[in-house]
Amino acid sequence: MIQRAVAQAQANIALIKYWGKRKENNAPATPSIGLCLEALTTTTSVERTSARRDSVMLDGQAARGEALRRIVAYVDAWRTAGLLEGNFHIASSNDFPTAAGLASSSSGFAALATGLGAFSRRPLSASRLAHWARRGSGSAARSIFGGLAYLATGQGSPAGLLAAPRDVPLGMVVCVVDAPQKSVGSREGMERSRAASPYYSSWTAQGRLDYRELAELVLEHFKPGRARLPAAAFRRLGELVESNCLAMHACMLATRPPLLYWAPATLAVLRAAAQWRGEGLAVYGTVDAGPHVALVCQQRDLARTAQLARELPGVARIIPSCPGAAARIIEQA
Ligand code: DP6
Repeated sequence: MIQRAVAQAQANIALIKYWGKRKENNAPATPSIGLCLEALTTTTSVERTSARRDSVMLDGQAARGEALRRIVAYVDAWRTAGLLEGNFHIASSNDFPTAAGLASSSSGFAALATGLGAFSRRPLSASRLAHWARRGSGSAARSIFGGLAYLATGQGSPAGLLAAPRDVPLGMVVCVVDAPQKSVGSREGMERSRAASPYYSSWTAQGRLDYRELAELVLEHFKPGRARLPAAAFRRLGELVESNCLAMHACMLATRPPLLYWAPATLAVLRAAAQWRGEGLAVYGTVDAGPHVALVCQQRDLARTAQLARELPGVARIIPSCPGAAARIIEQA
C-alpha cells in the first residue's frame, strides 16, 4: 500500500473560454480549449495520515475556512465513491504567484486529482481522472492532458488532448498587472452571469461556434514537426481567441450587479497588442476572470513579445511560457 505520492500539473489558460455550468458534476455549459503552460507548475504531495481529519497546506500555510472546506469536501467525494479510504495530509505549492489570481485552480485540482488517483482502489484512466479533476474545477480537467486540451460538455469523455505540447507551435506571455486581488471567484461569478446577465445565452451560443472553429483550425494546421503556423491561420486563431474572451467579458460586464474584472493596465496591454500587430508582430490577448492578460503568439515571437510586454507601464511581472506537459506522478513511496 502506498503512503505518499507527489503529483505535478501545469496551469492552463483558455483560448476558448468556459463560463457557465450545467447542473451535474460541475459540467460546463459550453466546450472550451486551454493551453497548458510549462512555466506555471503546481506540485502536490498527498500522504496517508493516522490523524482523524484531513489536513491541507497551501504554499506553506495551513489552509483554513473556505479553501480547506472545498478541498476536504473534494476528498470526501472520492471516499464516498469508494475510491479512497482513510485520511490524508495534502501539501500543495505553486511556482507562480497564487494570490495574483492566475489559473491556479486548473493546475491545483489536476495535481490533486492525480495525487489522489495514486491511492485509488480502482485504476483510473486519464478520462476518469479528468472527470475527477473537473469535479474540483472545470478548467482542471484540461490540465490532466497537457498541451492544447479541450473540456467537453457531453456524456462521453469530459476532456481530452487536441494537440500534444511538442505539436503546439504557440507561446504565451502572462502579464501580471498591478491590481487589487480579484473580488468574485470564477465559480460564483459564472453562476451570477447565468442567473443575471442578459447576454448569457448569446455568450454560450457564440462560445459553441468559437469552439468548433478553433477545434477545426487545430485539426487542420497543427501538425507534428511544424515549427509555426501559416500566418493566415495564426491570425484567424488570434482573432478568435481575442473575440471569444471579449464576448465572455461582455457577458460578465452585463451581469447585474456587474462583474468587472479588469484593471486599467488590462486594457493598456490589450491596446499595446493591437498596436504591435499594426507594426507586424502577430500577438493577441486573452483575459480570464481577473485583471491579468495572457499574450498569445507563435513560439518564434515569444522572446520579442516578452521583451515588449516587460516594458509596459502597469505590468508588474511577466511569465513567458511554452506549452506544458500532462499531469503526472513524480514520486511515489
Ligand atoms: C474564466 O475552472 O476556475 O478561467 O469549475 O467553478 O472551478 P470552476 O471554474 P474554473 O473557471 C475558469 C473560468 C475561466 C475560463 C476558463 O479557464 O475556461
